[in-house]
Order: sequence, then C-alpha cells, then structure tokens
Amino acid sequence: MFRLLGICALLDLVASQAVPQTIQLRSRIAPKEAAIRRRALNPVTVNLTDFFLGTDLQWFGDLHIGTPPQTVSVVFDTGSSSLEFASTLCGAACSNQIQFNSSKSSTFVDVGTTSSITFSTGVGVDPVVGANYRLTLRSARDTVAIGNLSAPSTSLFLITNQTPKFNIDPFSGIQGKRDRQQKKPGGMGARAQGLFASLVNQGLPSLFSLYLTPLAVGGAELTVGGIDTTKFSGKFHLTFASLPAGSGATWTLNSPQIFVNGKSSTTLRATRNVIFDSGTSNILFPTATADWSVVAFEDADKKPHRNAIYALISPNIVPFSPEPGTYGIACSSISSLPAQISIAFTAQNGQPFNLTIPSSELSVGPFAADPTICQTLINAFDGLSLVGASLLKHYYSVWDVGGQRMGFAAI
Ligand SMILES: *[C@@H]1O[C@H](CO)[C@@H](O)[C@H](O)[C@H]1NC(C)=O
Ligand SMILES: *[C@@H]1O[C@H](CO)[C@@H](O)[C@H](O)[C@H]1NC(C)=O
Ligand SMILES: *[C@@H]1O[C@H](CO)[C@@H](O)[C@H](O)[C@H]1NC(C)=O
Ligand SMILES: *[C@@H]1O[C@H](CO)[C@@H](O)[C@H](O)[C@H]1NC(C)=O
Repeated sequence: MFRLLGICALLDLVASQAVPQTIQLRSRIAPKEAAIRRRALNPVTVNLTDFFLGTDLQWFGDLHIGTPPQTVSVVFDTGSSSLEFASTLCGAACSNQIQFNSSKSSTFVDVGTTSSITFSTGVGVDPVVGANYRLTLRSARDTVAIGNLSAPSTSLFLITNQTPKFNIDPFSGIQGKRDRQQKKPGGMGARAQGLFASLVNQGLPSLFSLYLTPLAVGGAELTVGGIDTTKFSGKFHLTFASLPAGSGATWTLNSPQIFVNGKSSTTLRATRNVIFDSGTSNILFPTATADWSVVAFEDADKKPHRNAIYALISPNIVPFSPEPGTYGIACSSISSLPAQISIAFTAQNGQPFNLTIPSSELSVGPFAADPTICQTLINAFDGLSLVGASLLKHYYSVWDVGGQRMGFAAI
C-alpha cells in the first residue's frame, strides 16, 4: 500500500531526497575483534499467502512478536510505512484480526506516542476515498522475528483503531518501509531500517526477494537476505536496474517509454519514474498517461487523437463515476481485448528491457456497484506512476538495498 499525504508531501519527499545519502548499515563502529567474530546470517524464506478476492490483492506471511513469541501475519509491503499490526488495544474494531497482547510479552516496551496513518492505495482494488483506509497507532518496541532470525528491541506500532475497510483483511498488519515524513522505522524500503536493518547489522546480506505468485500457482514466498534461484532457471535470468540517484527510501526505476500492444505514442514516450509497490494490487498512472491525453497531429490523418494507455486498448474503457479514479468496460467484452502493457527500463549494462503485464490482467473483476461493468487495472492518480501486484506476480523480484538496484526474472 502506498501512503501519500497529498501532492505537496510528495514534492517535499522528492526535494528532501535530492541529495544522495550514505546508507548507515551499522549503528556503531564495532571493535576489530568483534567484526572478525561476527558471523554471516543465512537467508531465511517465509511462505506467503495470497489474499484473493476475485483477483490477487496482496501477499502476507508470519512475523513473531515478543517473548514468548506471538505470531501475527503481515503484508510485506515495499510501498508503505513502518511495521504495524492489530493489538488487543484495538478490541472490537479489529475483531476479525489476530491481536497481539503486549501484556503477555516480557520484552515489550511501550513508547506511547500515538499517531495515525492514511493510505492512498487500499487493500482492495478500489481507490481510496477520503480517509477510508486509516489506522490509529501507538508506538512501542519489542523483539521481532522472521523465520529463525530475530531482532531485539525493534520499533513497531500497535494498531489501536482502524476504519472498517480493514475488516476484511485476513492478516493483522503491514511490514512496510520507513516513512520519511513521520520518521517511523520500517524495513522493506530501499534504505535499511527497522527489522531489516537490525538483521543486516547482525550480518544478513542487505537484500530481499519476492516471489508473488497468482493464487492458482501458489507457493509465494519472501526470502530475506538472499535469492531463491530455484524459482527461475534456464533462459530466465535476473536483469538488474539501478535505482536513480536521490530515490531515497522509495523503490523507483526510471522508464523511458511504455508500449501498449507493441505500440507507443508521444505521451507514452515520456520519461517517468515508476514506483514498485508490493502492497498495491492495481497500477496508478496520472490521468494523462492512463486515459485522456489528446495529442494533435499524431497520425497521418492530422486529426487530434487520444493516445494514452486506455485509448490504445479500447475507446470503450471509460471512467466509472461511482468510484473516482477507476475505469471500467462491459464485462462481456473485456476478455477479448488485447491489452499487453510493456514498461521499458534500462539495465545496469545499458541495455533496454521490458517488464510486461499480460492482457489477462486487464480485468480486475466486476464493480460491486454495477456487476455488468468490469474494473480495468489502471487507476488514474495524478502525480504518481506506480506498479503493484499485477506486474510483480509475473516476475521473481530482487530488492537489493545494499546494491541500490532491483532485479527481475520472468517466471
Ligand atoms: C492480555 O494478556 C493479559 C495477561 O495474560 C490478560 O490478563 C488479558 O486478559 C489479555 N487481554 C486480552 C484482550 O486477551
Ligand atoms: C535458520 O535456518 C536455516 C535453515 O532454514 C539455517 O541455514 C540457518 O543457519 C538458521 N539460522 C540461524 C540463525 O539459526
Ligand atoms: C512452505 O511451503 C512449502 C510448499 O510450497 C512447504 O513444503 C513448506 O512446508 C512450507 N513451510 C512452512 C513453514 O509452512
Ligand atoms: C519492448 O517491447 C516493445 C513492444 O512490444 C518492443 O518493440 C521492444 O523491442 C521491446 N524491447 C526489448 C528490449 O525487448
């Protein structure tokens, strides 16, 4: 899930990241003997479960909190902030979630700062309207373990209240990245923070990998500290692209062009930064990229043409007014539409490569408000280009914090 306070906050975020910063992997200088004694930690793989509601939405797995450990499941989210999960302080508002009881943990420390976060992409495929995805939090510290790797005194947030939109979640929380505005420590961002930073300090290689498979395929997993090469092989190898300078904690790659069914256009040949977000199911593009950009004299007939992504798929894909930002088309016609979207990137060796979303992803299922209309995968969101599960589930992805790069292998 991607958190955004508004366009001003985004601009502030970009401005504050303009100066490249050094990643501090160790919080203090260890004496030489200690460094020699320090052993490497082996990578650990945790199984992920697909939250599926007509379409693949999010993938979640287990973390173990406190002493003795209580297991909560969280979405491993590269696009949100901090580690937060339902607690017994949330009571009835979190009655569908497993709740962590801090009274049962001997290592729990209540920091006691209260705050709230609002997400700009939701758990489902529908867009966020107002503050309908909002969590109320209380800060704390406790031991957090993933697999057999354990990080003592890790900053976390107990969910003490949540909006009803979260009720359907089969998981208790979110392991996100660090949020710069709120200075909340997390762990899945492009800077080592929180749980992940603690494990890296203990000698774990500074990367993680995601295998986010569709429900029908199964076997989704997160490998912390390594790459599970059994998930891709033969002609499929990892292609790495560097994060652009100044991308801060956000997983972003620069893209020179988008192709729709092999075609491009003036609008789609623009350079854009694309955010990769494992916690969002849909794709977000600015309205002009998604839908309504009209460019004069693009074609031989010298008439103005719509030339954005949907215009190249079908003129019948139109905004679905009950849910601002979404688009739809009659379900009866959607399965026959070719809608292959390739986003071009540049590999570390300078060669171009595409990440491709197949036509089968175009439909994310019928709208509840009108089941004859099927929602299409791109939501309009001005100021942001962001890809989530509909792309990531077609690749094995490596999120290399230490190397400041991302790797992809087709699966
Ligand atoms: C939390 O744990 C304490 C200590 O075991 C117990 O007294 C309390 O009832 C628990 N709270 C809930 C809501 O389960
Ligand atoms: C964790 O388990 C893996 C095997 O799954 C093993 O290779 C590794 O050494 C273990 N790490 C620790 C810290 O016990
Ligand atoms: C993880 O999933 C694999 C199958 O994909 C299974 O063999 C293994 O037992 C699972 N591990 C755990 C800890 O559930
Ligand atoms: C990317 O996709 C476009 C459209 O299908 C194709 O023309 C181009 O050759 C592809 N680029 C690479 C490097 O495969």
